[in-house]
Order: sequence, then structure tokens, then C-alpha cells
Amino acid sequence: MKTLVVYVSVHHGNTEKVARAIAGELGADLVTIDGARQADLKAYDLICFGSGIFFGKHHKSLLEFVENLPHGEGKKAFVFSTSGKGDPAQNAFLKDLLKKKGYAVIGEFACKGWDSWGPFRIIGGINKGRPNESDLEEAKEFARGLKERFRTTSSS
Ligand SMILES: Cc1cc2nc3c(=O)[nH]c(=O)nc-3n(C[C@H](O)[C@H](O)[C@H](O)COP(=O)(O)O)c2cc1C
Repeated sequence: MKTLVVYVSVHHGNTEKVARAIAGELGADLVTIDGARQADLKAYDLICFGSGIFFGKHHKSLLEFVENLPHGEGKKAFVFSTSGKGDPAQNAFLKDLLKKKGYAVIGEFACKGWDSWGPFRIIGGINKGRPNESDLEEAKEFARGLKERFRTTSSS
């Protein structure tokens, strides 16, 4: 299962921590958008896309990157995010976009991340220290489950 993890992490480096944990568990190549532009995506069996959530969606640069991808032809993908809310519902826009682009989304992960935007700055932000060790352990657990799901969905 040759896997590529593409991430954007611009606010506090929160998503990068999760991206590294997932990539480490999957033995995946890990790239930012610039790296992904150079990569041969056809060479991968599974591509993972993640960033922080900004106004209810993944980062604009990641959405633009996906928008400009060629048709996925059923290639497997999964999405992840860190955010103030830590709510997987905020993955929906990117998941839909990937589906429209011909990708099969086989999983998603979300956790809380340090957020010091707007009024939260006055109090030093919310979720300070997140993602923490326990969040990263959950991300690794998710990645292990994903390996299994990849096998199952490949044989069906
Ligand atoms: C301008 C801005 C908008 C944000 N909008 C949301 C949002 O709509 N929902 C949410 O849960 N978190 C929101 N956040 C919090 C970020 O998603 C969170 O801090 C995330 O972990 C940042 O990831 P990064 O450090 O990898 O860039 C926002 C943060 C900023 C700076």
C-alpha cells in the first residue's frame, strides 16, 4: 500500500503533528502542497489530505490543490483535520470535493488543535497543547485501522 500524505499546517503546526503520526504509522511519504505538486500521484495506492479548518473548511490551498487534480479514477483517499472544534463534520466539504473528483474516500480523522484566532487570542487561545500525546495515539490507531480498511475495500 504505497501511501502519500499531503498536508497544510499554517496556524500553529497542529496538523503537521498529526500528519507525521499518520505517515509514520503507514510508512507513507509526507509532503506539503509544494511537494505534492512535484509528486507522481499515480504512483500511490492511497492519498491522504489534511489541514486545519478555516471558516468551516480545509485550508484554501489544499482545496485548490484538490480542485485542480485530474480525475482520481476511483483511487482511495482519506481526509484529516485539526480544528478548534475537533469535529469531523468539518471534513465534509473536502470529502465531497474528493468524491466529485473521482476519489473513493475510505476514512476520516479529526482532532482538536490549538486555536488562537480572533477573540480567543486574548486568553492565549483554546486547546493549548493539542494535539497532545493522546490525540497522536488516536491518529496512529486510526491509521492502523485504515490499513485494514484498505485491504477490505481492495478485496471487495
Ligand atoms: C482564521 C481562522 C479560522 C478558523 N476557523 C475555524 C473553524 O471554522 N472551525 C474550527 O473548529 N476551527 C477554526 N480555526 C482553528 C484552526 O482550525 C485550528 O487552530 C487548527 O488546528 C490549525 O491547524 P494548523 O496549526 O495545522 O494550521 C480557525 C483558525 C483560524 C486562524
